[in-house]
Amino acid sequence: MIEVQNITKRYGRTTAVDDVSFRVERGEILGFLGPNGAGKTTTMRILTGYMPPTEGRATVAGYDVFTHPIEAKQRTGYLPETPPLYPDMTVREYLDFVARIKGVPSRERRDRVTSAMQRTHVADMASRHCSKLSKGYRQRVGLAQAIIHNPEVLILDEPTAGLDPKQIIETRELIRGLAGDHTIVLSTHILPEVAQTCQRVVIINRGRVVAIDTPEGLTSRLQGAATLYVQVDAPGVDATETLQGLPGVSRVALSDQRDGVRGYEVESARETDIRREIARAVVSRGWGLLELRPMRMSLEEIFLQVTTEETPEEAVSEQRP
Ligand SMILES: Nc1ncnc2c1ncn2[C@@H]1O[C@H](COP(=O)(O)OP(=O)(O)OP(=O)(O)O)[C@@H](O)[C@H]1O
Ligand SMILES: [Mg+2]
Repeated sequence: MIEVQNITKRYGRTTAVDDVSFRVERGEILGFLGPNGAGKTTTMRILTGYMPPTEGRATVAGYDVFTHPIEAKQRTGYLPETPPLYPDMTVREYLDFVARIKGVPSRERRDRVTSAMQRTHVADMASRHCSKLSKGYRQRVGLAQAIIHNPEVLILDEPTAGLDPKQIIETRELIRGLAGDHTIVLSTHILPEVAQTCQRVVIINRGRVVAIDTPEGLTSRLQGAATLYVQVDAPGVDATETLQGLPGVSRVALSDQRDGVRGYEVESARETDIRREIARAVVSRGWGLLELRPMRMSLEEIFLQVTTEETPEEAVSEQRP
């Protein structure tokens, strides 16, 4: 549904986006994750036809955003970083105006405006002037204008920025509700957002794609080794050496201890499952095995890892054709 092929954008000597490629399938929600200045907004502006790339091409619903801008824009709803509201119009007037310029037929316009206001929870502000809206409401009206013509593709630049926690949850639900019959790309630098909303994640850093995967895939792929947390009840006994001696174990570290119960982090190669051996070793010595579970890297740690490594592309990227 969306295809970005080798896009590069330079501003003078700054390369804001550097050879970025990815695809988004129909009905999918793709999270575009990266720290400040990574190139998220730049990529989205290119995808929505607001500015041309220096190199590369992008298509939306099969239309090249530069050679067929009208067809592509008709099928795209865009929430820019700063929603483009007209201060002198009321919310309803503004949405009606957007519906008109997006070509919604006049007999459908009223219904579409009402439904967009309901979905984004701004109906109670319908007659308020845009200039008098709070930041959160401006963001919601921005979202309402993006969905007003029921586009197949939604490009949302930080849709939850500036919202309070309750609005964040509502907006996430709205976005999830729109997926399926819409294809969505949303940018964020907030990790839980992608884990909760997106099926796939593109992580970009300094203009380059450093990882493309599902949230779960990222978690396991970035773990070179598997780490287990093992809690053993054996008063006065340090089990480090015993655990260290098991085949497949590469490292053991004491992580906590309290009242004769010690917790250990046991590392092994990712493809070997050593849980049975650990359980047997502990139990056969008469110790109590209180806990045995895999420790997963949080998305937070992954994000920090991929955005701080020197040459992360080789290690983690799975650039699709
Ligand atoms: N009009 C411009 N002229 C020059 N440089 C620009 C321009 N717009 C963006 N840049 C630079 O391009 C890079 C990417 O910016 P971009 O706005 O795409 O980042 P972002 O990922 O959206 O960041 P944020 O999370 O802060 O919104 C930055 O280094 C920025 O300074
Ligand atoms: Mg941005």
